[in-house]
Amino acid sequence: MIQHTKASTHRHRRYSLAMEFAGQQLRRLIETHPDSFPMYTLAGKWVIGGETWTNWCEGFLGGQLWLLYGHTGDPYWRDQAEHHSRLIEHRKTDRSVHDLGFLFWPTWKRWYDLTRDEAVNAVVIEAGRTLALRFKERGGYLCSFVADESLFIDIMMNVGLIFYAAEQTGDAELMRIAERHCLTTRRYLVRGDGSTAHEGIFDTTTGEFLRQSTHQGWRGDSSWARGQAWALYGFATAYTFTRDQRFLRTAEACADYYIERTPLSGIPPNDWDEPNPALPYESSAAAIAASGMLDLAGLTPEPGRSLRYRDIALGILDTLTGPEFLAIETSGWEGILKHGIYHQRKGLGVDESVMWGDYFFLEALSKAMVNL
Ligand code: GLY
Repeated sequence: MIQHTKASTHRHRRYSLAMEFAGQQLRRLIETHPDSFPMYTLAGKWVIGGETWTNWCEGFLGGQLWLLYGHTGDPYWRDQAEHHSRLIEHRKTDRSVHDLGFLFWPTWKRWYDLTRDEAVNAVVIEAGRTLALRFKERGGYLCSFVADESLFIDIMMNVGLIFYAAEQTGDAELMRIAERHCLTTRRYLVRGDGSTAHEGIFDTTTGEFLRQSTHQGWRGDSSWARGQAWALYGFATAYTFTRDQRFLRTAEACADYYIERTPLSGIPPNDWDEPNPALPYESSAAAIAASGMLDLAGLTPEPGRSLRYRDIALGILDTLTGPEFLAIETSGWEGILKHGIYHQRKGLGVDESVMWGDYFFLEALSKAMVNL
C-alpha cells in the first residue's frame, strides 16, 4: 500500500512536470505566432501555413488551452482557450470535412461543460447537425472528405458529436444516423481479429461495400496504428451514448489488438504490418490509445480488463513523459511530444510533433491525474 502511494506520488510529479512543460511550449507558440493553427513541426519547429492535406486540426490547440486552464485554474489559459475557440466558430457549418468532432469536442464542448452556457452549447449542436449532413443512406455511413464513396475509421472519433446533438435535442434522426454509421464501420472496417482498416470504399449507386483501402497506413489490408487508436476510443465513446454492448465489445477488441501488437513501451510504429518500417514510433497513436483506454477502463464491467487498460494507459504515459518522447530536454524543439507521424507517403509531419498528438497526450495526462 505504501509502495502504491509512492508510485502514485512519483507519477503525479512526473505528469505535472509534463503539463508544466506543455504550458511553456504552448505559451511560446501562441505568443510568437498569434492566431495560427500549425499542424506539425519540421525539425521541431512549428510549420505555419504549410501543406495540410485536409483541415482537421484546428480544435486541438484550443483544446490544449482548455486542458491547461483545467489543470492550473489560471485565467490566462481561460482567455486564450476562449479566444482560440472563437477563432474556429465559423467551422460549425463547414461541410467540406468529416472532422467537426475534432474541431468542436476539444473546444466548444469543453467550454460548455465548464459554463453550461446554452449559447455555447448551440454551437456544438449546430456542428453535430452539420456533420450529420455527410450521411450516405446507400451504404449507411458518414463519408470522408476524400469522396462520397469513402468511409474513414477516423470518423469514429467525430460521430460522438452527432450522438451528443441527438441527446441534447431529442432528434431521433440524428441518433439513427450516428448508430448506423457505427454499425457500418464495425461491419466493414473492423476485422475479426480486432484490427482495423483505414478506409472503406463503397459503390455510391447501390451502397455495396467494395474494398478496404488506406491513405496513411501501409496497405488496404494492413493495420495503421492511429486508425486503431481512433477506433478503440471512438467505439468506447459510442458506447457511452448508446449503452449498446456491440460498441463496447468492438472497443475492447480494438484495444486488445493494439495491446497484442505493441511493444512493452506502449508506442506502436505507424503501421504494425509494414515490414522493416523506416521509423519505429508513431507517438500520437499512443497518446490517443492511452486516453481511450482510460475511458474504456471506466466502462468495461470486467475488473481484470479494467485494471489492464488502466495499467497499459499509464505505462504509455510513463514512456511518453520520458526524454525520448517529451521534448523537455531537446533544445529548440517547439512541440511537446516527439516522434509523431502525420502522413508518411506525403512526407508531412514525419518523426515530428503533431498538434493532435500533443492534445491527446495532455488529455490522457489530465484524465490519469484525477485518479492517481
Ligand atoms: N486524418 C486524420 C489523421 O491523420 O489521423
